[in-house]
Amino acid sequence: MIIARTRKDLNKTLQFFSQEPGKLALIPTMGNLHDGHLSLIKLAKLNAKKTITTIFVNPLQFGKNEDYYKYPRTEETDIQKLTKEKCDILFIPKNKNEVFPEYEKLKQIEAGKLGNELCGKIRPGHFNGVLTVVNKIFEIIRPDIAIFGAKDYQQQILIKHMAKNLHPYLSLLKAPIIRSKNGVALSSRNNYLSKTEITLASNLFKCLENSVKSYKKNVLLHEIIDNAKKFLIAKNLDPDYFELRDSKLNIIKDSSFNGKKIFLSSVKINNTRLIDNIEF
Ligand code: PAF
Repeated sequence: MIIARTRKDLNKTLQFFSQEPGKLALIPTMGNLHDGHLSLIKLAKLNAKKTITTIFVNPLQFGKNEDYYKYPRTEETDIQKLTKEKCDILFIPKNKNEVFPEYEKLKQIEAGKLGNELCGKIRPGHFNGVLTVVNKIFEIIRPDIAIFGAKDYQQQILIKHMAKNLHPYLSLLKAPIIRSKNGVALSSRNNYLSKTEITLASNLFKCLENSVKSYKKNVLLHEIIDNAKKFLIAKNLDPDYFELRDSKLNIIKDSSFNGKKIFLSSVKINNTRLIDNIEF
C-alpha cells in the first residue's frame, strides 16, 4: 500500500495509478478502523480496480464541546489493517492544511434544512463540516466510486444531495451496518464505553427491532415512538431522538405509509452519543 501524507505525494501516486485502466473507489474515514470500515474496503474491491482510503479527523465536523481532541487516533494499527485488506493507497494528511490549504478563509458548504434535523439538531453545524470535508476529498481525489456506511444514514443522504450537484459523475455506494454479536452497530465511539455500557447499548438495536415489529402489527406510530423512548430510558439510554422517516428522510406522520422507511435513533450513554437505524 502506498501511503501519502501530503497533497503533492498524493497527486504523484494518483497520476501513477491513473495510467492503469479501471475504476478508483474511495473510502473516506476518520481512522480507528474496525470491521465496519473494513467491510467498506471489501465492497470497494468488488466494485473497482483500485481502492483509496483517507484517514483524517476533520475538525470542522466537531462542536466546541465534542470529542475532537480525544477522538481515537490509531495510525499504526489502521495501516496494518488496510495493508491486510490490500487497500492500494492511503491518504493520511500530515496536518489540516494538506486538506484545507486556506483553513482560516474556508467557506463551508451548507447542509440545508435536513442538515438541521435529527443529528443536525443536536450537533449544530456538524453536517456542514462533513459536507465541506467530503467535497474537498472528492475534489482532491476525483474517484469514480465513493463508499459510505449505512449507520450514518443521514450523512449518506446529505452527501448524495451534495454530490448530485457538485460531482455528478461520481457513484455513491451505501454499505450495510456491521454489528457485534449483541447487535451493537460498530463505531469508533464504542471505544469510549465500558463493558456494562456496551451491554446497555445493545438495547438500542433491540428497541429498533421491536419498533419495526410493532409497525408491521399496525400499532399506532405515536405509541411505537412513546414506547421506544420509555424502553430506552429504562435501559439508561437517554434518547436524543427516535423517529420514523421515509428512505429520503422525509417525515412520516402515521402508520399507513407503505414505502421504504427507516427508524433512526440517537442516544446518550453517560457522555457518549451512539446512533443506529433499521431500514425496512
Ligand atoms: O463518517 C465519517 O467517518 C466522517 O464523517 C467522514 C465521512 C469520513 C467525513 O469526515
